[in-house]
Amino acid sequence: MKRIVSPSVLSADFANLQRDIEMLNQSTCDWIHCDIMDGVFVPNISFGLPVLSAIKRHAKKPLDVHLMIADPGRYVRDFKDAGADMLTVHFEGAIHLHRLLGQIRDAGMSVGLALNPGTSIDLIHDVIDLVDMVLIMSVNPGFGGQQFIENTFSKIIHLAQMRRECNGRFLIEVDGGVNASNTARLYEAGADALVAGNYVFGSKDPLATIAGMKAVDVDRFA
Ligand code: DX5
Ligand code: ZN
Repeated sequence: MKRIVSPSVLSADFANLQRDIEMLNQSTCDWIHCDIMDGVFVPNISFGLPVLSAIKRHAKKPLDVHLMIADPGRYVRDFKDAGADMLTVHFEGAIHLHRLLGQIRDAGMSVGLALNPGTSIDLIHDVIDLVDMVLIMSVNPGFGGQQFIENTFSKIIHLAQMRRECNGRFLIEVDGGVNASNTARLYEAGADALVAGNYVFGSKDPLATIAGMKAVDVDRFA
C-alpha cells in the first residue's frame, strides 16, 4: 500500500486555476487529478484539451487524467500531447478495451482502468496485466461533492485480493466522496491512491487538508 494523494481540480476555482495549481505544487500531494467530461458519457461537461495544456504549463506534479468521454480511443494521442502522464479510461466506455489500453501504453502514458460503482471487479481479469492502475469509482461519475458509496470498501478488498493472487503490480485508486471520515479505512482496505476534490478545495486550508491525508494513521500496511 502506498499513500498517494491526487487532488481533483474539478473543485478548483477555474477563474484562478494557475493559483490553485501553484498551491498544489507547494502541497505534499503526489499527483494532480484532471476530470475530463463530455456531457455524453456522463451528464456533465468539465473541461478539455486546451485547459489541460494550460494546467500542464504550471503543474510540477504528474497529471492523473480521468477520461469520462464517449469513444476515448479517438483522443489518446491528443491527451498525451496535452500533457497527461497517466490516462485512465472507463471499462464501461470502451468497446475494444484491450486495443484501447494498448494505445495508451504505446502513446507513452501510464495506463488506468476505471470502474463505475455498478461494475464488478470480476469483469477485468482478462486485461489486468495491461494496466498500471485500477480506479474504483466510489460515486457515480459526473459531479464532485457526492456521497461516498460504502460498498466501495468490499470492492477494494476484493481487488487487492485479486492483485495478490496474480502477483499484480497495479495501483488501486479510489475516486469520489473521499474525506476525513474514510481516508484511513480506504488505505487500510488496500487503496494506494485517493482522489479528493471537494474535501481539498472546499476546506479552509487545502495545504493542511492534503498534509492530513498524507499523514493519516493507518492500522495495517498491505
Ligand atoms: C467524479 C470525478 C471525481 C470528482 C471527485 O466524476 O471523477 O474525480 O472530482 O470529487 P469529490 O472528491 O468532491 O467527490
Ligand atoms: Zn475523477
